[in-house]
Amino acid sequence: MNNQLAALEKAAAHAAGEACSELDLQQVRARFLGKKGELTALMKGVGSLPAEQRPIVGALANEVKDRLETLFNSRLEELRAVELQRRLTAERVDVTLPGRRLRRGSRHPITQVTEEIVSIFASLGFGVAEGPEVERDFYNFEALNIPRDHPARDMQDTFYVSDDVVLRTHTSPVQVRTMLNQAPPVRVVAPGTVYRRDSDITHSPMFHQIEGFLVDRRVTFGDLKGMLTTFINEYFGTGIGVRFRPSFFPFTEPSAEVDIQCVICGGGGCRVCKNSGWLEILGSGMIDPEVFKAVGYDPEIYTGFAFGMGIERIAMLKYGVNDLRLFFENDLRFLKQF
Ligand code: PHE
Repeated sequence: MNNQLAALEKAAAHAAGEACSELDLQQVRARFLGKKGELTALMKGVGSLPAEQRPIVGALANEVKDRLETLFNSRLEELRAVELQRRLTAERVDVTLPGRRLRRGSRHPITQVTEEIVSIFASLGFGVAEGPEVERDFYNFEALNIPRDHPARDMQDTFYVSDDVVLRTHTSPVQVRTMLNQAPPVRVVAPGTVYRRDSDITHSPMFHQIEGFLVDRRVTFGDLKGMLTTFINEYFGTGIGVRFRPSFFPFTEPSAEVDIQCVICGGGGCRVCKNSGWLEILGSGMIDPEVFKAVGYDPEIYTGFAFGMGIERIAMLKYGVNDLRLFFENDLRFLKQF
């Protein structure tokens, strides 16, 4: 029995040395000291020894048990220390590394261009008005002298919500709403989103316009020319050529489209200006007396001018962007450049 105890102690010490994790060691402990362990089994055998040997062997077995307990505990400490070291190395964090920076956002180029244009007109004494994007037929068409059978109401151009309600096709209904609410003189710009059934590299079904109009006594076409030329010189620079070209709009008479010298080729002719040297940037004219009648202004007393321009078009010309759709794809690589 003594030999058996000695062999068992040796085996247990060896197994503890081999254990390379806490779990391993628990299993070794169970194998020797557990309820069904080898030492426990041996100790149970002590009872069947001759009476004079029992205390001696029993004491010996207890000593072995104590030594093994101590051994297992110190091996446990050792394994825990090794494991701690391993984790400290594996999970090391370099607290001196700089953090990931949050990139600062910026306003969308269309917003920036809108704000720049508005601020130029604000400096010329214009206030700002807004109107709904879902608009009544009356404001979008009827009051602007665009009767029921006018081609501008074609299903191909206009998004109809119902017979009487449309997505506004231009910002001109804000003229009507403002004049219905306010007696002259008025001097207002109205930026906003508009919708048309149109989509290619220069047309988007959703785009932006800024409307402007001024009504007072004795307003002339000369005022319109002066105001728009001032704006163009402020926005595109004083050197740029400007021309007013006769045109037609149902709500202005006379009407003019305004061209600027091509910002790409300087007027020599290129693909962007279709070799004409000129780029159309806005529509304008003297407000038609029919519109004044619709809003209750006396056309014998008041005259006024109005204009409307596409913001995307201005932004494309200002920044040399050749595909309108880039403004709406929200690709940060594009937006970041503004
Ligand atoms: N509303 C016109 C358009 O969308 C532009 C315009 C506005 C023309 C005001 C004249 C006066 O094309």
